[in-house]
Amino acid sequence: MTTRNEELIQLALEDMEVHRDTVMSDPHLPHFHLMPPVGLLNDPNGFIQWNGEYHVFFQWMPFKTGHGAKFWGHYTSNDLVNWTLRSPALSPGDWFDKDGCYSGSAICHDDKMLLFYTGNVKDENGNRESYQCIAESSDGIHFKKNGVVLDLPEGYTAHFRDPKVWKHEDTWYMVIGAQNNKEEGRVVLFESTDLRNWSLKGDVTASKHKKLGEFGFMWECPDLFHLDGSDVLLFSPQGLKPEGYAYQNVYQTGYLSGKLDYKTGRLDHDAFTELDRGFEFYAPQTTEDEEGRRLLIGWMGVPEQDEEHHPTRKHKWIHTLTIPRELHYRDGKLIQLPVEELNDMRQNKTEVEASLYNEQMEREELNGKVYELLVNVKEVKGSFSVTFRNAAEMVYDADEKLLTFKRNSFVDGTEESRSCKMDSVTQLRFYVDSSSIEVFINGGEEVFTSRYFPSEEDESLLFKSEGEAKFEVTKWNIKNHITI
Ligand code: FRU
Repeated sequence: MTTRNEELIQLALEDMEVHRDTVMSDPHLPHFHLMPPVGLLNDPNGFIQWNGEYHVFFQWMPFKTGHGAKFWGHYTSNDLVNWTLRSPALSPGDWFDKDGCYSGSAICHDDKMLLFYTGNVKDENGNRESYQCIAESSDGIHFKKNGVVLDLPEGYTAHFRDPKVWKHEDTWYMVIGAQNNKEEGRVVLFESTDLRNWSLKGDVTASKHKKLGEFGFMWECPDLFHLDGSDVLLFSPQGLKPEGYAYQNVYQTGYLSGKLDYKTGRLDHDAFTELDRGFEFYAPQTTEDEEGRRLLIGWMGVPEQDEEHHPTRKHKWIHTLTIPRELHYRDGKLIQLPVEELNDMRQNKTEVEASLYNEQMEREELNGKVYELLVNVKEVKGSFSVTFRNAAEMVYDADEKLLTFKRNSFVDGTEESRSCKMDSVTQLRFYVDSSSIEVFINGGEEVFTSRYFPSEEDESLLFKSEGEAKFEVTKWNIKNHITI
């Protein structure tokens, strides 16, 4: 007899087959970013290297390009470059996750891969319940659910989700994204010695010295890790108001760094810093791989951000993940760089050196749709810009010391922008896919992550100076790396 879970997976696979040609014929289809085979993708989940192989799961709604009862979709890779889609790992077929197998994490324990996730349940009146659940696998492909390990503690609303589990010395820890009864966002810490019984330690940010003050109504997808001498709490707060150039998207992602006292469960932390300056970046998750690198992958989307206008919806899919990045903590700041394996994607190198004075430059050999572009900036007086397919532009204004990413809005085509202050710009490294651009500035000091939807025929790349700009450009083409 087939179970409800098996039945749901069958339906998802059928939906994938039915819409395959529609999805695959989309000119906006990514060539090196993970996407849903059909339907909607949001957060990365369960990012882990297990027995040598990298696994990235993702929040997946196979039946429509909207949100709902999520599955965990699943990709694997041996090199962080070439990815293969696997059968769905979790489906929402049990009483404790019937309205969604929500976000969570993976660990390796006793030769097994264990997944921790949130079971989302809505009762007949639409009231939310949330359960922290566990599933296990011996082969990394087939997963067996083992039910609920943690109920909602007192003091919090049912917005209590996204368990991230790690080991410190001999004890397991779990952080959960939460909203307290005063409707303030929090991250809650638990500890366990056996992974089944969890005791509450309290709010990680209840530090007496440095209060965050009012800081949003819900914090999603927390992650807590030690990196280069500091403890870092990464999370996605909801409800921050724009402040200058900061917090411009509907919801944000950023981090607090400091020292976690494992006895009290409190993080003595500094101010919150936004992790990305672009239009689409949310709910990232990190893992420590077998080489000891701290790797991050994020969702290239933001909740409640005009999804109904996304151009890919007519091709029956929406959203992608970011490229995998390596993190470091330097001078009080998280530094993000594309993982070095991505250099293996490079093909047909083109180099150009230029010096522009109030002029623009377009070179046939630099045009394209899917490539990596490294721009070493030697000098800028006035401003310098790079325009991609007439649909997005990166501008550095040296007088204002302001770096700005502009694009044509996918809602109404008008120009919109995101900016951050930069004293100097020496390097811009662009990862350009058919419908996204990730820009790493000065070796990962700042990153702008955004989607863009240029017209199919336009392959132009334009460099412009108002004043003087000297720079060297290296471009490598990138071919397709995702197998669905
Ligand atoms: C973040 C989030 C998580 C939740 C998941 C549901 O984007 O809202 O908090 O677990 O998405 O898909």
